[in-house]
Amino acid sequence: MLAVSLADAMERSIGAERAAPPSQVPACGHLPDCLNAEDWHDADLRDPAAAIFPDLNWRTRLASRIGDGFESLYAAAEILGPEGIVPTDACRFGVFLLRPGVFYPPHSHEAEELYLVLSGTADWQKGEDAFAPLPPGGFTHHRSWESHATRSGDEPLLALWGWGGNIGMTSYRMDDTGG
Ligand SMILES: [Fe+2]
Repeated sequence: MLAVSLADAMERSIGAERAAPPSQVPACGHLPDCLNAEDWHDADLRDPAAAIFPDLNWRTRLASRIGDGFESLYAAAEILGPEGIVPTDACRFGVFLLRPGVFYPPHSHEAEELYLVLSGTADWQKGEDAFAPLPPGGFTHHRSWESHATRSGDEPLLALWGWGGNIGMTSYRMDDTGG
């Protein structure tokens, strides 16, 4: 379903005017390291990413809800979406960056979600599963309301991400870690 939403949104967005201006946040300082990482998902994606990503509208919209200091620990930018450079209400599709050594605690949301890792191997957790490393090229899918968490390693994490279904931010919530 999510892939269908993304394909539909991209098709309908062709020719749309660029809506969100370029803007960076502190974690974007890691973008050059990410884009030049030795271990990168797909060589064909590196040049387009290097051309496009620095000029996206990077934000830390959820920082205050995630935890102390997150204003400088992560960055997210929509390419397609309500706040994307190509506006659409059908989905959110963009890029996510997490600084090295950061624990992004368990959270969930009504939207279903996918991540495709471009650079940086982080540990990812779904539900009660153990954390497992996901290298560049790795893909993870979170069902609607499925709790998930991420812990970056020595390198920053750069990933493509997408939301489908109910993409409203109001359902986003931090989950009880159980101590
Ligand atoms: Fe999520």
